[in-house]
Amino acid sequence: MSDRPDHYITKDGSSTLYSNTFNQYYHNPNGSVSESKHVFFDVSGVSDAIAQNSSFNIFEMGFGTGLNFLLLLDYYLTHKCDSKVNFHSVEAFPITVEVANDFNFASFSKFRELDHVLKNIFSDLKKGMNIIRPLKEADITLHLFIGKFKDLNTEDIHVDFFFHDAFSPEVNQELWTPETFETLVSMANKEAMLTTYCAASKARAAMAVTGWKLAKTRGALGKREMTVASMAEEKLFGLKRVNEQRLIKRLENGDFDR
Ligand SMILES: C[S@@+](CC[C@H](N)C(=O)[O-])C[C@H]1O[C@@H](n2cnc3c(N)ncnc32)[C@H](O)[C@@H]1O
Repeated sequence: MSDRPDHYITKDGSSTLYSNTFNQYYHNPNGSVSESKHVFFDVSGVSDAIAQNSSFNIFEMGFGTGLNFLLLLDYYLTHKCDSKVNFHSVEAFPITVEVANDFNFASFSKFRELDHVLKNIFSDLKKGMNIIRPLKEADITLHLFIGKFKDLNTEDIHVDFFFHDAFSPEVNQELWTPETFETLVSMANKEAMLTTYCAASKARAAMAVTGWKLAKTRGALGKREMTVASMAEEKLFGLKRVNEQRLIKRLENGDFDR
């Protein structure tokens, strides 16, 4: 079987890929654009931060198709934002520009200057760190590390919003371990927020044991739950809290190893 992912159209009409390596879709087949907007922009508070013209730093786990980065550019241009945004991301298995050529994501935006952004990014990536400022009119810098997350030097990365967008814990275990979440803690600013589509107890336990405070809310497109985490408890105000101590106990009892 080819390692090249297959292109699909999700139910909201937007592209996604199916990975033949991880045997999983890159996004929710019910709608990739709708899911990304809900999980990473609306629930996280990134769309509010852009509307308020704040400067901030994002870290994304898994650049994949680049959809989240493209949506960030779209929100920024829509709100005529002029603040500084750094978007850090990591990708161990980058797609080729031929695969990216099939995406229709830009047609979900009214800004024609976004049409070639992903093609340009994917046509010129090297191993290690790639620093790209795709649009003159937007003070957004992409810091894209091509390699495994464990090999990224995180020392100088200070994050306000984490987009945890790895494949699921069953197939992409290394990105959902306590060691991974401990590294994210070391990168987090005081009021950092982390959102993920994932609601698995094992993933939540790995976050809880490393000091993340947890809450849950409605997931995208009919999914019952997603997870919201923060280093600052007050940032979870108004959300349904998850019992971190219970999860830590279950982790210590080995409940998730069976
Ligand atoms: C669900 S997809 C990401 C979706 C992406 N955010 C998007 O909008 O298209 C998960 C991504 O994580 C990458 N990945 C898996 N394991 C990794 C690792 N150890 N280090 C870095 N990237 C990894 C995969 O290659 C894949 O592109």
